[in-house]
Amino acid sequence: MFDPRLLLAQRPTFRMRKPKVNRMVLALSLGCFVMVIFYFHNNLKPASEPLGERSSGQKSRRSPLQTLYDGDQVESAIQAIHQGRRELLEEACRSYTRKRRVLIPEDLKHVIVDDQHGLLYCYVPKVACTNWKRVLMVLTGVAGPHRDPLAIPANEAHVPGNLRTLSEYSTSQINQRLRSYLKFVFVREPFERLVSAYRNKFTRSYNTAFHKRYGTKIVRRHRPDPQPEALERGDDVSFEEFVYYLVDPATQREEPFNEHWERVHSLCHPCLIHYDVVGKYETLEQDSRYMLQLAGVEGEVAFPASSKSTRTTGDMAAQFFHNISPFYQKKLYNLYRMDFLLFNYSTPAYLKFR
Ligand SMILES: *[C@@H]1O[C@H](CO)[C@@H](O)[C@H](O)[C@H]1NC(C)=O
Repeated sequence: MFDPRLLLAQRPTFRMRKPKVNRMVLALSLGCFVMVIFYFHNNLKPASEPLGERSSGQKSRRSPLQTLYDGDQVESAIQAIHQGRRELLEEACRSYTRKRRVLIPEDLKHVIVDDQHGLLYCYVPKVACTNWKRVLMVLTGVAGPHRDPLAIPANEAHVPGNLRTLSEYSTSQINQRLRSYLKFVFVREPFERLVSAYRNKFTRSYNTAFHKRYGTKIVRRHRPDPQPEALERGDDVSFEEFVYYLVDPATQREEPFNEHWERVHSLCHPCLIHYDVVGKYETLEQDSRYMLQLAGVEGEVAFPASSKSTRTTGDMAAQFFHNISPFYQKKLYNLYRMDFLLFNYSTPAYLKFR
């Protein structure tokens, strides 16, 4: 699995410094079988020398990454917004995270690859990810003749294998893509996302898989004197019980959170992967248009307009938090704190511990 040739072959292009090489040799000699990815953040801008796939003789059009950082193509107001988000994220990472560790392929399971356009998208459930996956299926051609993302059934967008993730590539392929592709993620106010996940997975009768897998466990552990039927079906979990489940240390000791309520910080590693564009659900239309513009495909595919009627809003989140005690509100806030800090979301005014 660990092919040392891959790493050695990369030395010249990486301008690797001596200590790193030594560490690498040490890692090798320890018989470490984990594929270690050396990903250098100073390579944020497109490398001036051509990378493997783009030879200098080839007249290729500008990549999205080049469009972003050369940046004379898009209006400056939106560019400034995105630069502000990048800087805030970087600063928050510096302030709130410990020493940077090395990326491993496991970290890249949510990062979808579009080799045709040079895009990497980290998908976050409950943040328009079905529509982004549909758009990427159109862009990568796996949707066949479809040009309208909405013609792709939602369940098909989530079939593993329809879209490739970065974790499936070799170390050198991963590094090359991290350096030369435009990396983007869409985020959302953390508690609105959480309430949205709760509503979608626990209050809809058709989500029996979630009721069985998570609901029964939550009822068993967090409801005093549960009815046998509730224990069996797990289909009437209250938001309060869901919160108890989330903040219970045993929950994460057993297994990672389900991706629908896992933090963006853990899904997309925004302090290890330098995202070029941080889109927000709150400005979904505008940010999606900007992304498609950078990708140079705004004429080919349109981001689907979303129905706003069933959307979880801040007011709705406030109602759900109303009967959660300040003690548990605080615990829950601490759990999602990094997502608030990294993406510039302020502590909701409805919380009672403030
Ligand atoms: C962070 O949020 C505040 C308050 O909503 C806003 O005024 C500011 O522009 C944001 N900063 C960035 C860099 O997005």
